[in-house]
Amino acid sequence: MVEDLCFHLVDLVQNSVAAGARVIRVQIRESRASDTLELEVADDGRGMDDRTLLQAQDPFFTSKGYKKVGLGIPLLKATTEACRGDFAIASRPGRGTRIRASMQRSHLDCPPLGDLEGTLLSLLVSLDAVDLRFSFQGGRGSFAVASAEARAHAGDLPLSHPDVYRFLKEFIRSGLGGLLAPAP
Ligand SMILES: Nc1ncnc2c1ncn2[C@@H]1O[C@H](COP(=O)(O)OP(=O)(O)OP(=O)(O)O)[C@@H](O)[C@H]1O
Ligand SMILES: [Mg+2]
Repeated sequence: MVEDLCFHLVDLVQNSVAAGARVIRVQIRESRASDTLELEVADDGRGMDDRTLLQAQDPFFTSKGYKKVGLGIPLLKATTEACRGDFAIASRPGRGTRIRASMQRSHLDCPPLGDLEGTLLSLLVSLDAVDLRFSFQGGRGSFAVASAEARAHAGDLPLSHPDVYRFLKEFIRSGLGGLLAPAP
């Protein structure tokens, strides 16, 4: 199936950006006690009506005019189902969309988390016009970072400036590095 959860994370964030979101909240929660890994992305984009919401779960639906299939959501749904998790989307036209996917961490089909530090860094740096708010909660503690914080640190420099980039990379690495549990 799909290599890692960061693939899903990037797809969900890209969907939110395509929906014109200005604020995108990404939460990852990992619990050893309940053996779960949860990914939640909530945005304030254009949202979906009931029909589009149903269609979004169909691989042969996409609102991207240049392609015939939209695989992001159906793949994520299939991943959660394959590892005894839950998948839920709530959306309101004009208000936004929230997608929550949970998985049983120890399940053989549960994909690895992937390069969360690198993925987060590239999302923060590349999404200039968006307020990305990320948080991770796990058995070893929690970590949060947001675009606003990164921009405040950067001052007049773009987030892609080598000095800012290096700072962010180190900030994310030191904040997140010790929290990521090895695969069960
Ligand atoms: N956060 C969102 N806000 C509004 N509409 C959304 C959102 N996420 C998905 N959609 C709608 O659901 C459709 C399907 O999304 P999905 O991620 O499955 O495929 P895609 O983004 O079209 O293509 P792919 O992910 O394969 O590049 C999108 O084309 C869009 O119309
Ligand atoms: Mg998509």
